[in-house]
Amino acid sequence: MRLVPLVPSYIESLRPYEAGRTLESVRRQYGLERIAKLASNENPLGASPKAVEALRNALDGLNLYPDGGLRLRVVLAEEFEVKVENVIAGSGSEGIMSSIIRAFLCDEDEVLTTEAAFIGFQVLARSRGVKYRTVPYRDWHYDLPALAQAINANTKIVYLANPNNPTGTIFTRHQFDEFYRHVPERVLIILDEAYFEYAKDNPKYPDSMHYRYDNVITLRTFSKIYGLAGVRIGYGFAHQELIRNLLKVKLPFEPSTPAEAAGIAALADLEFLHRSLEVNARGLRFLTAGIEEIGLTVVPSQANFVMVVLPEAHDAERMFEELLAQGVVVRPLKAFGLPNCLRISTGTDEDNQLCVQALRRSHAANLGATRTS
Ligand SMILES: Cc1ncc(COP(=O)(O)O)c(C=O)c1O
Repeated sequence: MRLVPLVPSYIESLRPYEAGRTLESVRRQYGLERIAKLASNENPLGASPKAVEALRNALDGLNLYPDGGLRLRVVLAEEFEVKVENVIAGSGSEGIMSSIIRAFLCDEDEVLTTEAAFIGFQVLARSRGVKYRTVPYRDWHYDLPALAQAINANTKIVYLANPNNPTGTIFTRHQFDEFYRHVPERVLIILDEAYFEYAKDNPKYPDSMHYRYDNVITLRTFSKIYGLAGVRIGYGFAHQELIRNLLKVKLPFEPSTPAEAAGIAALADLEFLHRSLEVNARGLRFLTAGIEEIGLTVVPSQANFVMVVLPEAHDAERMFEELLAQGVVVRPLKAFGLPNCLRISTGTDEDNQLCVQALRRSHAANLGATRTS
């Protein structure tokens, strides 16, 4: 039976998410002892120990349905001095993005963002079958003036990730203020702050909790700095009318009870937060300087990864494979729309050293190959 007529063309044209290579498969293919997994912007220190303890304690109540995130919403409301009605919790920030797409988009609406935006958002928006429009980067930063100009009568959602994945760049408070002046109230701005904690001490960074505008929704996650990517827990803040409508379409039992408990405990784990920030800051400095020293182009980052820009797509493919063979797994960005770029997450000090060594070897081998060919 041919099922394709059952599937709308905008779903048919999507590609299922391809998870990165498992450590085990890389280890087996290349016979490696040590692997540095620097592909998914995860926390190289593991998970917050307080969250792990809370997860263990949550095992007692697994027979009961979750409370829809209410306990976590109460804690977040207190922590960020807003009302519970302004907070939502979900299965990762992508879970909340999925609810936003379902709650607010009609068939004729359009979504606007930058080129090569975070792949998770691209896929979710495209799966709704609405028009998806983009504006090119300017020097690997969001071009906010061009985005403001590109808003038309059908634009319903503007998606901005700050810091941005995959470039690692931020837009400043001043730039956002200027942009916001040009956005009609009927347009919903998603401010995706998955990497907020890494950038928040930069005085130019616009912490969106200071922008409690009616048409701005802030998304954050426990996946990155708290090391809980595998647990699926994220949260958002917005005007209570937006949250009220999001709660209508959210799966009633997300987040799971263990995920909610882990999130609550992680918020209180300041020791782990600080340690993670330190390791990341050191990693960013080391990777950026090391990559520049090799003579490759790297985009200065405010997050927990850097983007390397190579001359051509085949250079990126070759470098990806050569790093893999040396036990360093990075993220090729073809699926994002940047086939000549690689994204490298910060790891432990040892991972980062392994990575720079592998990059140096790969670059030297390719220079040699170019000279002799
Ligand atoms: C910009 C951005 N937003 C959201 C996410 C997903 O976060 P979560 O794990 O909370 O769904 C990521 C993960 O890589 C990301 O880079």
